[in-house]
Amino acid sequence: MASKPKILTASSDPRCPEISADYADIMEQHFEIIHHKLFEQHPSKYQDIVAIIWICGPDIDEELLNKLPNVKIVATVSVGYDHLNIPLIRNRGIKLSHTPGVLNDAVAEMGLTLLLASARNLVRFAEEYKRGTYSEQVPVNDVTPQFSGSTLGIVGMGRIGYTLATRAMAFQVKILYNDILRRSTAEEKAIGATYFSNLNGMLPHCDFVIVLVNLTPETTPIMGEEQFKHMKKSAILVNCSRGPTVDQEALVKALKAGEIGGAALDVTTPEPLPNNHELFKMSNVILTPHISYQTRKASNGMMQLAVDNVLAALDGTDLLSEIPY
Ligand code: DGY
Repeated sequence: MASKPKILTASSDPRCPEISADYADIMEQHFEIIHHKLFEQHPSKYQDIVAIIWICGPDIDEELLNKLPNVKIVATVSVGYDHLNIPLIRNRGIKLSHTPGVLNDAVAEMGLTLLLASARNLVRFAEEYKRGTYSEQVPVNDVTPQFSGSTLGIVGMGRIGYTLATRAMAFQVKILYNDILRRSTAEEKAIGATYFSNLNGMLPHCDFVIVLVNLTPETTPIMGEEQFKHMKKSAILVNCSRGPTVDQEALVKALKAGEIGGAALDVTTPEPLPNNHELFKMSNVILTPHISYQTRKASNGMMQLAVDNVLAALDGTDLLSEIPY
């Protein structure tokens, strides 16, 4: 039986040292997996590696690519690709794919979870109740905002933003959005959304703002000091995109000054955030460790799409989801 093509995957990153059993099963249907740790011990033994499947590593730099002369494709198991040096990889004639679409539901669901949890101050109440420090004497003095019937500003109405908007409609929220691209009239009508070409013009109307943009030079950061000053003092900021889309120092200042009401961040700068960071000390802030996409369904779908892209590259056919030029 012919041996399977070899792929390099995973990293020495302490956050994901091993490949999950689900991921290994999906890859092993077609490939022989060479773990980065093994590869590093005998790189010259693995000149026949034909693809890299990026999970949360390895770092793909010149040194690594020099050791891998037969790689045809780098397939990242993520929709974002800000961690890749695209020109370096493309200049070597190596194809690049990512995994959009399959994680829309998972990220939209997490966005809504953070919107609802921050609206209702869920984490603080649950923690205080568990610790026995919650005082029910005067609950009326401890009321929260309400997501239902509020105004939600979506910064970045791409695939995930649009999915989130369709779900948010069930809460009868008024949807505003800002993006460099405007959706068609039919798409706007379907979710009852109002477009703002100017972000600062949209922010004063919003009770909640969720950031779902790609990380690009233009969006680094898209929410900074100026934007926080345009938000309502009661407004809550949610970020499920990438940490640097929000100026974190400016956010801390805005929270301390009471310029905005709270924040819920699935992404931060850096990741993981050191656990003595002041954001962890704020009772109106919820922090989660970049888990928006991390449902079994979404992450297996992402791995399957990465594998299908590698198979297409090896067959010389069009990739299913090439990283845009
Ligand atoms: C993505 O797919 O970009 C997720 O944020 C995981 O990195």
